[in-house]
Amino acid sequence: VDEMKNAINFLPKSIIIMDQEENIQNRTPLLDAMIEYKNKNCTPFDVPGHKYGRGSKELREIYGEKALSMDFNSMECLDILSNPSSVIKEAEDLLAKAYGGDKGYFVVNGTSAAVRTMIMTVCKPDDKIIVPRNAHKSVVSGLIMSGAVPVYVQPEYDEQLGVFHGVDTDNLKKVIVDNQDAKAVVIINPTYYGAVSELKEIVDFAHQYDMAVLVDEAHGAHLKFHKDLPISSMEAGADLAAVSTHKTGGSLTQSSALVSREGIVKSNQIRKILNINGTTSSSYLLMGSIDSARKNLAVNGEKIFDEILEISRYARKEINKIQGFYAFGKEIIGRPGVYGFDETKLVINSCRLGITGFDLYDMLRDDYNIQMELGDSYNVLAIISLGDNYSSIDILVEALKSISAKYENNEKRVNYFKNVGKLEVKMSPRDAFYSDTEKISLKNSVGRISAESVMAYPPGIPIVTPGEVITKEVVDYALYLKQNNALITDVEDLELNYIKVVI
Ligand SMILES: Cc1ncc(COP(=O)(O)O)c(C=O)c1O
Repeated sequence: VDEMKNAINFLPKSIIIMDQEENIQNRTPLLDAMIEYKNKNCTPFDVPGHKYGRGSKELREIYGEKALSMDFNSMECLDILSNPSSVIKEAEDLLAKAYGGDKGYFVVNGTSAAVRTMIMTVCKPDDKIIVPRNAHKSVVSGLIMSGAVPVYVQPEYDEQLGVFHGVDTDNLKKVIVDNQDAKAVVIINPTYYGAVSELKEIVDFAHQYDMAVLVDEAHGAHLKFHKDLPISSMEAGADLAAVSTHKTGGSLTQSSALVSREGIVKSNQIRKILNINGTTSSSYLLMGSIDSARKNLAVNGEKIFDEILEISRYARKEINKIQGFYAFGKEIIGRPGVYGFDETKLVINSCRLGITGFDLYDMLRDDYNIQMELGDSYNVLAIISLGDNYSSIDILVEALKSISAKYENNEKRVNYFKNVGKLEVKMSPRDAFYSDTEKISLKNSVGRISAESVMAYPPGIPIVTPGEVITKEVVDYALYLKQNNALITDVEDLELNYIKVVI
């Protein structure tokens, strides 16, 4: 034993730390506590009322006995998310370490709750915040709830691909210099379509002005765990990150994480605000799944994503052989707003075939039993993640070949809709949302201040947000989405005949 100890003393420090770190990340304190409690076969007089599945034969049969028997509520041995001090705290500390932050927080109300929390942590009513205009609706909810005033930055629009990428660094720097009183900058890392902004440069620049950098990493829970993926929020030195473990990290739907770095943002506020945005009955099935996903990413991430990246590259190569489709990859790096690219986002552009992404999305679902992540005017998007393999890619490739053959001689050219351009902000989202309003016909609303957000979900990026002036392009685009059967959300009149505007 002494000889071994001596030998260890001569090992480089990094190797010893790596080894200890790996051992630590192998642990799942919350999951272990859940299993231990389940094995005790306790007689429950607490909620949930189904009492570990006994009260619902149907759910037992469909969801499985094991899952239901672990649908617990908080109790001493399982800790409590609103004020964790034992197993949840340990699991959150491991999460923070895995992502390279100082503190980690489990979130069970979706990444939307994490995004709202980031904004409400750094902004009081009337504080300014710099926001890319292609932000998700949860950012707008955060603005409404905090009362913060957005300074929107236009992301770079790619005419060929019909998508918004990241923000131009120089453009953003100028906005920071012109708005030195802003409390924070929001960055999306990566966008739904895989592009990343120049995160490290932006973080360093914003910090010179004492601005916090809040990263919406809903689509980047995996970035930290492979060297060929773009830089992650915490590696770039960001202050807060909302990380959708459920989207690409392998945890259950709705489970998510918030990671923070101590400095400009003080962590003592974060838990309080998470509790405002959260439930008092946090699901252990969700939390246990975050613990498990974190372990898997931290311990096996490099190996898993080696394979996922290979599969993604294979998919691109095969799809790009098919006439009429273009699955873009790293070759788009260098275009405006594209400083890096996440290859696990497989975007398939169908323009050359003369069909819209909306049509392709429907065809793949209805005729080939393939569910894509989203369809838009120009593209469909496939997320390649932990559960994918070469066979699932082959199914998609075969379907695309068949569609290509069908539309080979397609004379019809679709009317693609370009972006709606920059909108004028006349009021803060909160002021507009709580103003006196009237309902008017959408077609007659040009020039009025919107009191609601209009969007298609996915991607959940508002076409117009409360406080912005409605333009003809907004109306045309909203009607175009409706015509293409996109799922319209968040407006009171989902038929889009009427819209609520500020009186
Ligand atoms: C960029 C972005 N941010 C935040 C979210 C919110 O995530 P969740 O659905 O987990 O609330 C989404 C969801 O699609 C998103 O695309």
